[in-house]
Amino acid sequence: MSTNTDGDGGRTLWHGRFAGGPADALMAYTVSLPFDRELWRQDIAGSRAHVRGLGRAGLFSDGDVAAVLAALDIVESEFADGTFVVVAGDEDIHTAVERRVTEIAGDAGARIHTARSRNDQVATDLRLWTKEALRDVVDAVIALQEVLVGRADEHADARLPGYTHLQRAQPVLLSHHLLAHVWAFGRDVDRLLDCIDRLDVSPLGAGALAGTSLPIDPVGTASDLGFAAVFDNSLDAVSDRDFVAEALFCLSMIGLHLARIGEEWVLWTSEEFGFVVLDDAYATGSSMLPQKKNADIAELARGKSGRLIGNLTGLLATLKGLPLAYNRDLQEDKEPLFDSVRQVVLALAAVSGMIDTARFNTGAMAAAADADVTAATDLAEFLVRRGVPFRTAHATVGELVRRHLAGEGDLADLARSELGDEVADLFAPGAQVRNRTSRGAAGPQAAPVQRAAIDELLASQRQRVSAR
Ligand code: ARG
Repeated sequence: MSTNTDGDGGRTLWHGRFAGGPADALMAYTVSLPFDRELWRQDIAGSRAHVRGLGRAGLFSDGDVAAVLAALDIVESEFADGTFVVVAGDEDIHTAVERRVTEIAGDAGARIHTARSRNDQVATDLRLWTKEALRDVVDAVIALQEVLVGRADEHADARLPGYTHLQRAQPVLLSHHLLAHVWAFGRDVDRLLDCIDRLDVSPLGAGALAGTSLPIDPVGTASDLGFAAVFDNSLDAVSDRDFVAEALFCLSMIGLHLARIGEEWVLWTSEEFGFVVLDDAYATGSSMLPQKKNADIAELARGKSGRLIGNLTGLLATLKGLPLAYNRDLQEDKEPLFDSVRQVVLALAAVSGMIDTARFNTGAMAAAADADVTAATDLAEFLVRRGVPFRTAHATVGELVRRHLAGEGDLADLARSELGDEVADLFAPGAQVRNRTSRGAAGPQAAPVQRAAIDELLASQRQRVSAR
């Protein structure tokens, strides 16, 4: 079995304790740099704060602080322009940055890990990253909400069947349907912002697990990094990944909401429904069937939600049963998180574009919405208004529907002859949706109230976001 015997290239941060270098198989299996280099900005920011803190504590001379900060500037530009050179032994982003800083700044660089462990460092980096990433997700969710509201306003009068069990149930305004999703995404925004608030605690200064004998300043480094709070328990600080699990749940929930839209749009764009025509830019073709125009964005929004849920459940399984404090298992937190954030941001942009550019076939929607049978509940409520107990009314109308389905005639005709001519109004085009009048209902009477509430929702979201 080959080992890296102690050339500079294979030298790890912890080589002193070991007689020989690490096996290639160990390095290949344990390195995280291929994915945690994503954290380079946060690692450099954390290192700057840490070094300034060491300066304030008198543990670093002004010269050492300046030398390390200058070296960090160089490392930052190397990462930014893609010229950073990884060497064997760079296990993770923290090792790589420290190694390079030490190459540039010499002794001052070799002091940078004073009173710091990769355990508090990685927790700090990941919290900073997640804070920023979730803010970006919030922006993307809000952008989709705005698209939905815009489309709802554009088609304020359009109606389509509302479904239960995927059977036509009662007609609803298209705007009502689109805004239903806006409320769901409003809860997502809320959850993301709550998650950001909860994770906004600096673990820097917790050391490997128990703090340090040196006079460091965790409060100062926390405020330097813009954290709202500082850890109180070093063991918890280095081992807590609740925030990753919570973020993955929030992202999964967004994924589920997108998947529900995805499924609807697969149906709506089908020839069987014909409610929506996708813009060519947001549809795909078939390699063999020239006539095909597929809703691949909608299908992937549906399909990729499985992967988001997988990322969540995978992390929960990893965290389950871990003893305090840091365990290498925790390295498994990053890939699912990075993947879910990336997938959700991509999905939100694609679904926003798809909805924004699609053409609603409001004629087909209205024709489907005005089917006679969906007036059944209105017929029953007509009888209720005359004092008939609802259960009796339900049975009476059910009987009419049964006769209609048995071929005895139109439901409207049967209803008129059995219940009186007044019921004809219930079958007029658009009457069914107009009759949905109660609070929060699907008809035009309740629509302005909901629309005002949506404006309030969006304004309060905007305010919560900008307060951060
Ligand atoms: N790459 C590691 C991780 O992501 C960094 C922390 C390593 N700590 C340790 N004690 N080996 O978790």
